[in-house]
Amino acid sequence: MQVELKNITKTFGPVRANDDITLTVEGGTIQGLLGENGAGKSTLMKVLSGFISSDSGELLLNKQSVQLVSPQDAIAHGVGMLHQDPLDFPPMRLLSNFLVGCEGMGLDTKSAEIAFRDLCTQFNFSLDPNAFVNEITVGERQQLEIIRLLWRGVDTLILDEPTTGISAPQKVLLFATLKKLAETGKSIIFVSHKLEDVEELCDNVAVLRQGKLVAEMVRPFDIEALVTSMFGQVMTTSERPSVPLGKSLLQLENLAVTDYRMTMHDVTATVQAGEVIGVAGLEGSGQRLLMQACAGLLRPKSGTITIDSQNLTGKTYPSYAAAGVAFMPADRMEEGLVEGLTIAEHVVLARRLRQKKHERARLIAWDDANAAASADIAEFNIKGRPESTVESLSGGNQQRTLLALLPDQLRLLIMEHPTRGLDVESAQYIWGKLLARREDGTAIMFSSADLDEIFQYSDRIWVCFDGQIIADISTSETTIEALGYLIGGKKL
Ligand SMILES: Nc1ncnc2c1ncn2[C@@H]1O[C@H](COP(=O)(O)OP(=O)(O)OP(=O)(O)O)[C@@H](O)[C@H]1O
Ligand SMILES: [Mg+2]
Repeated sequence: MQVELKNITKTFGPVRANDDITLTVEGGTIQGLLGENGAGKSTLMKVLSGFISSDSGELLLNKQSVQLVSPQDAIAHGVGMLHQDPLDFPPMRLLSNFLVGCEGMGLDTKSAEIAFRDLCTQFNFSLDPNAFVNEITVGERQQLEIIRLLWRGVDTLILDEPTTGISAPQKVLLFATLKKLAETGKSIIFVSHKLEDVEELCDNVAVLRQGKLVAEMVRPFDIEALVTSMFGQVMTTSERPSVPLGKSLLQLENLAVTDYRMTMHDVTATVQAGEVIGVAGLEGSGQRLLMQACAGLLRPKSGTITIDSQNLTGKTYPSYAAAGVAFMPADRMEEGLVEGLTIAEHVVLARRLRQKKHERARLIAWDDANAAASADIAEFNIKGRPESTVESLSGGNQQRTLLALLPDQLRLLIMEHPTRGLDVESAQYIWGKLLARREDGTAIMFSSADLDEIFQYSDRIWVCFDGQIIADISTSETTIEALGYLIGGKKL
């Protein structure tokens, strides 16, 4: 199906999120959509998929002008979208989730299950229709959403930053699926920050900048030209300053942590002041359990956790926070930020959480909070204002807000996917700020699905596999390739 967006404009108050954008995507092609954080990519795709309506402009599907009034309506017209932050229904079984939107269509579960299994076979997805959605990984949720939309008959599939939360093998499978779909004549629109993903997958690419379409290119892409059109300049790569490591800060001894799904066991390791530990591993290998335990968010089943010679085993997050530990979660809207609150309100909240009861003022000094929020906005380059609610920010700008809220003085900073959804340039800038914290002796522990990120910023890498740390290696003594093998549980 040919998709045409003509002169699309969409404003949010003073922000021109989309400014007169015209773009055509032919059937059977994979169209990339690039742009820095807040450039307007998600907005444009929400217009095309019926989630929001534009202020002006026209949509044409196979040369027919259409008005898409809702996502359901868009799906009925053959356009479906996978969102940046997955929209699904956690307590449901996969099969029920698959059937969402088909109520009243007289479908029986039996034939739906057959269709479900057929689609899985067709794309090599191993999804269990009777499992629960909250038990599967982000990559599997994505697979579920793809087969759901295909089954509903979509012809144009939009994916908004689909590779940020999934593992390397899941990405390989996703790309194979998208290529297969394009071969059968479907149009794919692929929104991303990752140049290498676009390079590998897309036939054409369009670049948005400050709401405007600034470039269109066809394969093979001139990457430097793409970067220049995204940011208006060529990126400089930052040098990683080396910092002498201090004394031992965190000690884990025979630690075991468990949740209903798995156990992370036999962890004996130390982290030195100023050290950066990259925690690598396929999703669900135990890294999340380990990191939560180190922040006091999960009580260990056995073993001890010592921070600065203080035994904190069995204590809760406030005790860890008092010892200088902070945790930044992967799921920015569920666990990190509070929907409905503004940036300034978050600043107030974060500050009060760190204050002892007697230090808390009875009244909130809003002038002060607004000034602090403005300072964070400037420092972290957030596209938003102190009074912007967090849900009105673009994905990357929500991530920056989360980073801006981290306390200044820390001993140990634990982060899941710190730069998820950030454009390349911002990720480098943010890492510069994170690494600067090491000069005060702050240690950093972070997980990432991006091996390059782990490799580039860690002093040492812990590889988790099947509930254990199977390797604790100095970054200078390994290679990306060796790491790839270890993550899959193999030694080179
Ligand atoms: N519901 C909303 N209310 C107010 N402003 C909004 C809303 N949705 C988006 N915006 C603003 O529109 C601009 C474009 O946002 P959009 O989400 O389209 O960016 P993006 O290119 O997808 O960025 P990212 O890479 O960070 O996801 C941003 O300045 C954002 O704050
Ligand atoms: Mg977006």
